[in-house]
Amino acid sequence: MHLPRGDELAVLHRLPGWLTRRLSRRDAAPRSHSGVLPPITPSGHGMARAWDSLCGDVLPSAFATDHPRYLAFVGGAPSTASVLADIAIGASSVYAGSVLEAGGVVAAETAALRWLADLAGLPPAAHGAFVSGGSMANLSALVAARHHRTGDREAPSIIVAGATAHSSVRAAAAIMGCELLAAGSPDHPLTGVALSATLDALDPARVVAVVASAGATNTGAIDHLDRIAEVCRQRTLWLHVDAAYGGAALLDEHHRGLFTGIEAADSITIDPHKWLFTPYECAAVLYREPAAARAAHRQHAPYLDAVNDDVADNPADYAVHLSRRAHGLPLWTSLIANGTEPYGAAVAQCLRTACYAANRIRTTAHLDLSADPSLSVVLFQRRGWSDTDYASWSRHARAAGLGLITPTRHAGRTALRLCIVNPLTTEQDIDLILDSLS
Ligand SMILES: Cc1ncc(COP(=O)(O)O)c(C=O)c1O
Repeated sequence: MHLPRGDELAVLHRLPGWLTRRLSRRDAAPRSHSGVLPPITPSGHGMARAWDSLCGDVLPSAFATDHPRYLAFVGGAPSTASVLADIAIGASSVYAGSVLEAGGVVAAETAALRWLADLAGLPPAAHGAFVSGGSMANLSALVAARHHRTGDREAPSIIVAGATAHSSVRAAAAIMGCELLAAGSPDHPLTGVALSATLDALDPARVVAVVASAGATNTGAIDHLDRIAEVCRQRTLWLHVDAAYGGAALLDEHHRGLFTGIEAADSITIDPHKWLFTPYECAAVLYREPAAARAAHRQHAPYLDAVNDDVADNPADYAVHLSRRAHGLPLWTSLIANGTEPYGAAVAQCLRTACYAANRIRTTAHLDLSADPSLSVVLFQRRGWSDTDYASWSRHARAAGLGLITPTRHAGRTALRLCIVNPLTTEQDIDLILDSLS
């Protein structure tokens, strides 16, 4: 089962052609799944059958997130270089948890983390790790915050987050046995005043951290980070900024100013697998003071003594994980291959497409913009439509291969939401979608 057999070598020879076709045709519409999976049997069916099922039926039935009209949730459109690196990583059986096992890998990931930390304006000592996703990054940061703030006292147990915070923050609070208190309103960015009003009613010793969003998932809104950072500084509270989606817009000179204050965060989440053109699973958790995170996350056991040393900076020490894939290497490879400029240009392209969509909605009689777009999220309504109309249009658009666009709620009303994180999404793609709503 280990060294390649003849049928596996035959598939290996087909791989370059398959990959070239896949990466050159990102706009292929999903095919419906046959509904028939080969049964799992004692002797197997051979690699040719497994491959045909995988690449001819199972994978093409997914609505690929790099399709230019995948505009639901927060998609992701990996660069070709990052996909190639991802394949190499999978084939290389790298354990990327420690310097002992993979020093060069850790060095390359550290360089990519440094780029992200510099983007956010964190100090030179800031560091962290790449993890599987934003949910894991948020959880890891909050666990570090609690550990840091506990000291000799009873562990604090309240997480205060803006009401726009991603659902993973509530999940993290539940995992940690903490209470989540929402500050401000779900439809507007969190302000310093609203945060202070929530905190005034609390004993600061009970607060694990304040979570602010830099690019709320539903609206794209950026909380008032400079005022929030000031409130946290005055009260000596840990500030975690969730920039999982929005952090990419730090690359855009016209949007960078909206993030002022992020540089004061104690921890930050940025997910390259969202808007920095990297395959799943790649999310960064960054800490202003890495030692605090290491104290929280390093695992101890006799069999780990060989890697637990304070000179080697092991990625395993900075999050809720031990064994790990080299999540950050595809980003690093793509940065080395392409340089940073195309990243800024690709983010700016998405922002321009979002503006185009908003303008088209403004000038279309039967469509109403729910709010001015924030970052690359556009929320709008189709006049006269009920919740059922939105749901059935969305289902039909998916089934017809038009696009993946799902409804959400905003300001108490159902709305359609476009989240544009793919520079290959064109104005014609937006026209196709909006024209189908007539
Ligand atoms: C702002 C924000 N934070 C966290 C997450 C969770 O990230 P993941 O799905 O990678 O776990 C998301 C996902 O969309 C998000 O938009």
